[in-house]
Amino acid sequence: MDIGLLLSRRTFAAEKASPQQKPSTFYHPPSTFFNMFNLTEEHLAVQQAARDFAQNELKPGVIERDSKGIYPYEQVKKMGELGFLGMMVSPEYGGGGMDTLSYVLAMEEISKVDNSCSVIMSVNNSLVCWGLLLYGNEEQKRKYLPKLVTGEWIGSFCLSEPEAGSDATSQRTTAVDMGDYYLLNGTKNWITNGATSKLHLVMAQTHPEKMHRGINVLIVDADSPGVTIGAKEDKLGIRSSDTTSIMYNDVKVPKANRIGEDGFGFKFAMKTLSGGRIGIASQALGIAAGAYELSVAYAKERSAFGKPISQHQAIAFKIADMATDIEAARLLVHRAAVMKDQGMDYTQAAAMAKVFASEVAMRHTVEAVQIHGGYGFVKEYHVERLMRDAKITQIYEGTSEVQRIVISRNVLNGELYVPMVQAMETV
Ligand code: CAA
Repeated sequence: MDIGLLLSRRTFAAEKASPQQKPSTFYHPPSTFFNMFNLTEEHLAVQQAARDFAQNELKPGVIERDSKGIYPYEQVKKMGELGFLGMMVSPEYGGGGMDTLSYVLAMEEISKVDNSCSVIMSVNNSLVCWGLLLYGNEEQKRKYLPKLVTGEWIGSFCLSEPEAGSDATSQRTTAVDMGDYYLLNGTKNWITNGATSKLHLVMAQTHPEKMHRGINVLIVDADSPGVTIGAKEDKLGIRSSDTTSIMYNDVKVPKANRIGEDGFGFKFAMKTLSGGRIGIASQALGIAAGAYELSVAYAKERSAFGKPISQHQAIAFKIADMATDIEAARLLVHRAAVMKDQGMDYTQAAAMAKVFASEVAMRHTVEAVQIHGGYGFVKEYHVERLMRDAKITQIYEGTSEVQRIVISRNVLNGELYVPMVQAMETV
């Protein structure tokens, strides 16, 4: 299948949704979301194309790339050619014009196999391209999106700092207004695509007295004088993707490179991260599903005490729990994607999907190693890599604790659907 052709045929579903989000559907009965199961033939074709790509192009060499921390240049190039790097971007900017549901289906398949590739894909799609598409002006979109969707350029999202991780409002990087340009100074940390990105979206403080309302977001060319890329981090998981710090020292950034109004940077980060969290939730789902598929196959194949280990209740029950949790995670991920596609407020849904799917991924990759026994502890069987990869999904794009802040604030400040309380008041 030529996914490029498939992608170009798509209508730009997200464009139809008004950027002005509809009121939150928070706490409505679940029947509201039953339509989310209606995957079309095109959704299934995208899923199949991603599955084929992951199995045929990513699986060979994934163990070596991970062990040696080799960046997947060839694989990322191919992802760009096939249309996996700008799936939700409108065709007028060269993208696939696909909906978020297509994107999460592809992310799940790719994450079953190679999470270094899937985080590169996720950041480029849902933080960089989506952020530019939604909030960039026409000139910025025409200038940058066509390069980003093909993978000619890779993008990075530069919010975290040595002392501003979860506490993202405490930006120390400064963007001083110099008239027709900003003078950028500071250090960003743990930046996915740090060494390979040509375009950085950098959050920086312009008006400290206004706190988070003084933060701007700037498009910075990695080749600008004063930009220094730190060493690649030696990580527990997603080892072949490049995570680095980035230093900005008196970097001149034209005013035309600011996205949105003066002081829009923190809102930009929060809104874009809500979409990013759907991407990471689908990555976590893929990790769990990959470990599960490997475990089911192994448990049917491997015998102990005279029968396949799948017929021992100790193993069968682990598999039952995996299957149930993964299905629940998938429902949350698809629900968040559909809410985004329908123009609803998906902030809480994205946080729920991410916190749940990432915890399922961590829990069940540990169980997958256990099911595999000694074989699970060696690289050849893939599950130990998935277990190491799972951990980061509980940390980046907002830790599990941050997701719980987002969810609890929504629950406690939101408009509740509370038939029980009303019923009790009438008694
Ligand atoms: N949409 C729009 N605006 C939002 C928002 C959202 N989802 N969430 C918060 N805001 C706004 C608030 O309305 C508020 O604005 P006003 O004061 O103008 O009304 C402002 O942002 C500040 O919000 P809070 O008072 O809630 O801020 P807080 O400091 O109490 O907490 C937080 C906010 C949720 C903890 C936030 O800081 C956060 O999400 N932190 C985690 C950051 C993060 O996810 N980092 C990941 C780094 S990127 C990465 O990992 C990418 C990669 O490379 C893989």
